[in-house]
Amino acid sequence: MSQYSILITGGAGFIGSHVVRLFVNKYPHYRIYNLDKLTYAGNLENLKDIEQKSNYIFLHGDITDTAYIEKIFSEYQFQSIIHLAAESHVDRSIHNPMDFVFTNVVGTVNLLNAAKKIWNGHPPTGMRNLFYHISTDEVYGSLHSDDEYFTENTPYDPRSPYSASKASSDHFVRAYHNTYNLPIVISNCSNNYGPNQFPEKLIPLMINNIKNNKPLPVYGKGENVRDWLYVEDHAAAIDVVFHKGKIGETYNIGGHNEWKNIDLVHLLCKLMNRKLNRPEGTSEKLITFVPDRPGHDLRYAIDATKIKTELGWSPSLQFHEGIEKTINWYLENEDWLNHVTSGEYKNYYQKQYLNR
Ligand code: NAD
Ligand code: TYD
Repeated sequence: MSQYSILITGGAGFIGSHVVRLFVNKYPHYRIYNLDKLTYAGNLENLKDIEQKSNYIFLHGDITDTAYIEKIFSEYQFQSIIHLAAESHVDRSIHNPMDFVFTNVVGTVNLLNAAKKIWNGHPPTGMRNLFYHISTDEVYGSLHSDDEYFTENTPYDPRSPYSASKASSDHFVRAYHNTYNLPIVISNCSNNYGPNQFPEKLIPLMINNIKNNKPLPVYGKGENVRDWLYVEDHAAAIDVVFHKGKIGETYNIGGHNEWKNIDLVHLLCKLMNRKLNRPEGTSEKLITFVPDRPGHDLRYAIDATKIKTELGWSPSLQFHEGIEKTINWYLENEDWLNHVTSGEYKNYYQKQYLNR
């Protein structure tokens, strides 16, 4: 029997690299293709431990490039897709919304078209075809402090260019299921944290700045609330949804772990004072309140009952364990931080790997 071929897009990024690693190691009988453009957020150093595995293939390309996407679909005949490639940072979307329209909307529709073309009218292969779209809880909008959690039935109300582009891509994915019967599933996850996150996002940015004694920029009054999930728990949920999720369904994924930004920054300061042998209260002096993000969503919080009861997934790590592991990883991987922030890895791992 030929190997089950899965295309994972955005596999060199933060969440994608954890998903690629999990699938390559756990399913040696699957063939995992990682398609990534290697933008500032994509880094092959994230995958150096698995890049030599025989069931792993890296494809360097852009999901907005229709001809390239058609070519690789025809050449490799992917049987399923896990689509993570995206522009993912809200602050960047405020400055450059069009990048988000191209990658998140046009790129997704390109992949949908290519999947529709090779799957429609082809005899079943024995393994199911699936277009699994990875999305965010930000499509549901912003909650007040006493509102109920987001469920799968919460109406979409995206409020940033990032969340608008993700909401749009979710709508296209559902439309392709409804119109062309494309086998799809979507999951919407809360904020992730953990190793390999590009240090423009809150947690790695604060860890890096605390370490380097740089100001800790807290937007507004720091009253905004996010629901944090350890990235490997998200990858495990993706594994479960990929294998057991019902076609056409949506699953919310979350950590049931809400934190006000200012409380989280204080926690990071406290933990890092201990790690760095600094007297209590030292890193806290770096906290700097800065002008708020325009249109800053107040609160996100996920009700993950459906995935728990129907598919049996729940987070494995407590937040205090996950945050400890995360801080340790950033402190032990200073080279990684230096490479991704300086762009140096592009001259090192990427050239080395791409030129083989
Ligand atoms: P990331 O920014 O770390 O990585 C994105 C990856 O996509 C990078 O490797 C980048 O090189 C690649 N990419 C970007 N544009 C591309 C293009 N045009 N063609 C091919 N590859 C391209 O993102 P992340 O935080 O790992 O998020 C992954 C997915 O999960 C996204 O779809 C995001 O919306 C979703 N998500 C993220 C979070 C979170 O907290 N980070 C939460 C919920 C959902
Ligand atoms: P972020 O990690 O960018 O994720 P998202 O905006 O997708 O939730 O930001 C998390 C929260 O932290 C958000 O409320 C904005 C806030 N924030 C700061 O206060 N300062 C910062 O420097 C950053 C990057 C974020």
